[in-house]
Amino acid sequence: MYELIEQARAVIAARILVTPKVGIILGSGLGALADDLDQAVVVPYADIPGFHAPQVPGHRGELAVGMMAGQPVAAMRGRLHFYEGYSMQEVAFPVRVFKALGCDTLIVTNAAGSLRPDWQVGDIMCISDQIFLPGMVGQHPLRGANDDRLGPRFPSVVGSFANDLARLAREVATAQGTTLREGVYCMLSGPAFESAAEIRMLRVWGADAVGMSTAPEVIVALHGGMRVLGLSLITNLAAPDGPPANHAEVLHAGAQAKPHFSALIRGILARM
Ligand code: HPA
Repeated sequence: MYELIEQARAVIAARILVTPKVGIILGSGLGALADDLDQAVVVPYADIPGFHAPQVPGHRGELAVGMMAGQPVAAMRGRLHFYEGYSMQEVAFPVRVFKALGCDTLIVTNAAGSLRPDWQVGDIMCISDQIFLPGMVGQHPLRGANDDRLGPRFPSVVGSFANDLARLAREVATAQGTTLREGVYCMLSGPAFESAAEIRMLRVWGADAVGMSTAPEVIVALHGGMRVLGLSLITNLAAPDGPPANHAEVLHAGAQAKPHFSALIRGILARM
């Protein structure tokens, strides 16, 4: 893996004009947030060793590196999901490459269903902690031999999400006239949405939002010593008695939220 990371880093480094400090992963329907970078260089995933093209509508397969709100960033327009058939290691591989390129911070975004009946579609939740359900039952990106050059064998994941970044996100949102929700994100493998019984179970377990991504990338960022900010766009209500979730509403909510989600990320970057 170490060699593959280095190959990917070298391919990207040979093309880009700025050295990124912040890696950004743009979730379902949110890829357009990184459309307007300055000094942008776009590298298709197909050109990067170890990267795979996403198969899901709403996910482009491009890495954009350039300046966003004064910060050098590397932004994934479209991510890989475990449910597409990739391993957890493959899903999280781009985070290893972010780190190798020089990023010390990861901003990870996703589309999520709200487990809180009082939250609304279009709300943004700052992730305070995560439940990595597939990881808890063995689908874990750090499973297998540990390479000590990448991080420790037994990393702590207490306090996974950096408090100062979450505070900054809240302050920026307030200044922009919005209030962030805050809560626990639970990753399920998908691709099926949750049953009514699963939704009731997740609520009891203390999850506030549910999705099919993010957790492996967060774990790998922590393993590599990166600081993490996680933001979930609430695209639907995951309610046991509500209408079933569907992918079209997830993409629609992403498109609707683009202006304020984009302003939030730019505001955070500007003050980082
Ligand atoms: N469940 C799982 N994943 C999701 C959802 C949901 O309700 N909404 C967006 N991604």
